[in-house]
Amino acid sequence: MPQIFDRSSNALARMCLVLTGLIVIALGFTLDQLQRSPWVTRQGQRADQPVPFSHKHHVQGLGLQCQYCHTTVEKSSYAGIPPTRTCMNCHAQIWTNAQLLEPVRNSWYTGQSIVWTKVHDLPDFVYFNHEIHVNKGIGCETCHGRVDEMPLMFEQNTLQMEWCLDCHRNPSKNLRPTSEIYNMAWEEPSEDRPVWCTAVDDRYGVPTAQSVSCTTTDPASNMGAAAASQPLALLRPAALTTVAGTGESAALTYQKFTSQDEMGHYLLVHYKIRTPKDLTSCEVCHR
Ligand code: HEC
Ligand code: HEC
Ligand code: HEC
Ligand code: HEC
Ligand code: HEC
Repeated sequence: MPQIFDRSSNALARMCLVLTGLIVIALGFTLDQLQRSPWVTRQGQRADQPVPFSHKHHVQGLGLQCQYCHTTVEKSSYAGIPPTRTCMNCHAQIWTNAQLLEPVRNSWYTGQSIVWTKVHDLPDFVYFNHEIHVNKGIGCETCHGRVDEMPLMFEQNTLQMEWCLDCHRNPSKNLRPTSEIYNMAWEEPSEDRPVWCTAVDDRYGVPTAQSVSCTTTDPASNMGAAAASQPLALLRPAALTTVAGTGESAALTYQKFTSQDEMGHYLLVHYKIRTPKDLTSCEVCHR
């Protein structure tokens, strides 16, 4: 049988294979980049909303707390979007003629909820829960960014699996005192700005994140006269200052932290955070 292709076409065929390979790789790379791009993740985009609600005005300007509107964030998986009634608490009196608020008044008179466009929206196959995160010392700002500075809401982080895992592998770098979860401007401890924490686990029997309390003002400077007269006692381990049976009255033992590393580790232990292995297992988020 005569050869259909001459020898030189071997090289050509090889080149075609190499080229096809390169194209496939390039395509894969592009798709991968695309999949992570803000165009797909919607990171940073302002959604079209029926009312241009400004967190900046209402949180920073008027000083409203997140819980005033997102009432269930500490006690359920959902933070919740406020009903029209919450807006009318104020807008029945102020800005009553503003065109911008027409959809709010309309909703109030017709009883039809305002249909807000979701900014954060995980796929249905992912389980997420606000309650556990905020009760274990992850601040709103860690995940949602400086909401108090957003005229219009946008997504600060990708909410992709890699982002969740990055924290689940090492939560201590993001842990803060639970009293600070709503604080938009929280800064981690430093030499100039130490944080003092104490844990009263035994007082409540069952240790919870709530039995840890922290302060950014030196507890030695604002304790009662009794404690002030023996400031060193504060630095001693609890066991030494606690007389059996009188644990209640013993001065609280505060520990001073000047880095996120130290404080994060302390909180990790006291909040009873599971190991990275447990927290990255598939069933945690895909049930
Ligand atoms: C006066 C009521 C009010 C207060 C106070 C408020 N919010 Fe909101 N929030 C809303 C409304 C209304 C929406 C829905 C419209 C939008 O997305 O802007 C919303 C949306 C959000 C969303 C996005 C929801 C989505 O669709 O994914 C986040 C995140 C959020 N708020 C966080 C916060 C945080 C953090 C605070 C405190 C710093 C706060 N909010 C305070 C009313 C409020
Ligand atoms: C605690 C009172 C209060 C509540 C609750 C409240 N607002 Fe307002 N809102 C104000 C005040 C005061 C202004 C005027 C702010 C300014 O211009 O500085 C305002 C302004 C606005 C404006 C005009 C644009 C702007 O931000 O200046 C819109 C739109 C608005 N509010 C929507 C809402 C919606 C929607 C809700 C419910 C989710 C709501 N507000 C809840 C007090 C409130
Ligand atoms: C660990 C990260 C994380 C923390 C901390 C966090 N959120 Fe969220 N938040 C999310 C994710 C993820 C979603 C999207 C949930 C979904 O689509 O099911 C979301 C959605 C929301 C929504 C939309 C409505 C809802 O319930 O799904 C609001 C409002 C909100 N968060 C407010 C808050 C407030 C207020 C705080 C602080 C008290 C907070 N979040 C803390 C990650 C977080
Ligand atoms: C900034 C840190 C951080 C980020 C980001 C984060 N988590 Fe978590 N997550 C935690 C911590 C801390 C816990 C509590 C672990 C514990 O108590 O053992 C937790 C617990 C959970 C749990 C366990 C709930 C339960 O009842 O057992 C789920 C589910 C979860 N996270 C889902 C997610 C998902 C989904 C995302 C991304 C959309 C996410 N988390 C992003 C820190 C984070
Ligand atoms: C901390 C929470 C968390 C854990 C743990 C987790 N996932 Fe995911 N996973 C997510 C989130 C969030 C998404 C949605 C990502 C998106 O919307 O882009 C996701 C998406 C996926 C997808 C869809 C494809 C994709 O990448 O979007 C697959 C498949 C998947 N996860 C498999 C796994 C497997 C297998 C494990 C265990 C090794 C695992 N996940 C552990 C949060 C988690």
